[in-house]
Amino acid sequence: MKKIIIRGGYKLHGSINISGSKNASLPILAATLLFEETVILENVPMVKDILTMINLLETLGKKIIVKKNQVTILNTNKKKYFAKYDLVKTMRAGILVLGPLLAKFEKAKVSLPGGCAIGARPVDIHLDFLKKNGFKNEIKKGYVISSRQNNKKNINYTFSKISVGATETAILNSCLSNNKTKINNIALEPEVIDLISFLKKAGAKINFNKKRSLTIQGVKNLKGIKYKIMPDRIEAGTYLVAAAITNSVLTINNIVPKHLENILKVLMKFGVQFKINKKNDLKISPKIRKPINVTTAPYPGFPTDMQAQIMSLLVLTKGTSNIKEDIFENRFLHVSELNRMGANIKIENNKAKIIGTNVLSGAEVMATDLRASVCLVLAGLVARGETIINRVYHLERGYENLVKKLKKCGAKIKIINA
Ligand code: EPZ
Repeated sequence: MKKIIIRGGYKLHGSINISGSKNASLPILAATLLFEETVILENVPMVKDILTMINLLETLGKKIIVKKNQVTILNTNKKKYFAKYDLVKTMRAGILVLGPLLAKFEKAKVSLPGGCAIGARPVDIHLDFLKKNGFKNEIKKGYVISSRQNNKKNINYTFSKISVGATETAILNSCLSNNKTKINNIALEPEVIDLISFLKKAGAKINFNKKRSLTIQGVKNLKGIKYKIMPDRIEAGTYLVAAAITNSVLTINNIVPKHLENILKVLMKFGVQFKINKKNDLKISPKIRKPINVTTAPYPGFPTDMQAQIMSLLVLTKGTSNIKEDIFENRFLHVSELNRMGANIKIENNKAKIIGTNVLSGAEVMATDLRASVCLVLAGLVARGETIINRVYHLERGYENLVKKLKKCGAKIKIINA
């Protein structure tokens, strides 16, 4: 069983290179099911969720060659459209293969992804779009079994709520067709925009009508391309918090400033300063610590995937801060672990009240999901003594070389096989 061990109290220095975005890579990998020709993706982070998606694509008939962070996806003309439970259960993004499989083969059988620690995470909105887009969906023994029911022309669909994954399903299901599909109330996360840029570069006809509304004119096929995945904004935000929590001056290389606007706004309110050079390297210099109130929201609001990390920062900030989690119904599982380290956090429904304490003590703690586990790493960097983090596989799902990157900046951190 792997464990991460951190000795707290050391400042960080130097710079960190950000990897490619996990949450942009996953829908773009799923999108390659739409292609006959070869696709080459660069800057793909080698994390567990990506390897799981690669396995899934291989079971669906793709031949995949991985060379460091370059992934080449070749077609084998095997007609496969059954995505098995054992691959989808560990990675919720497996549901993203449903949209392209239906666009390509007009039928598919994909395991329901099931919930996870942060909530039930249903896929009803994905299925509602597919139904309106002419597919019949049945749920049988934990699988979605879908097939073409009618060939409606010119769909005009409005999402009942903003959903990143359901927006991606709608886009992936509408690119290859002879229909015109209008989709309203879409998610605008940079990862969705990266998927759109990838598809447009391959010849898809996708245009914005207005802020949260797209029109997709289906095409017959997409051409094979080479594409570089965007940097991971949540990884970048995580290391910004690592600098702030340890009071360190740190440079985060190759960021996309626009993607970080909402995170930087919150960190500036907290009291950090930063500057960005012409190469888009961001240098952060912590100044003061002020308590703040944060509410998570769909992009361009403050990202839910940064909620746990900002909480670890507020734990040691004098005064009372408040966090409201408006996206997921159960995304405070890291609170009990932080409290075991000496934090003083009270939860009421989807609100957390954080009363700043002076010191955190190292402890043996347990990760429950990807972002909760990294919040414990951040707390461990400043806790007195040693922090031991169990269930490291959560971290390995979404952070490439986290221990190596932090160690290079002076953190006393290591991973052991206990
Ligand atoms: C994506 O998940 C991300 N995952 C999540 O990142 C991220 O937290 C989330 O978007 C919100 O930004 C990937 O991109 C692989 P949603 P997704 O559909 O698409 C509800 C991480 O740590 N909902 O925008 O599943 C849902 O339960 C992960 O990298 C329905 O009710 O999120 C949630 O409350 C965690 N029915 C809300 O909508 C549906 O059919 C937003 O979910 C779909 C979603």
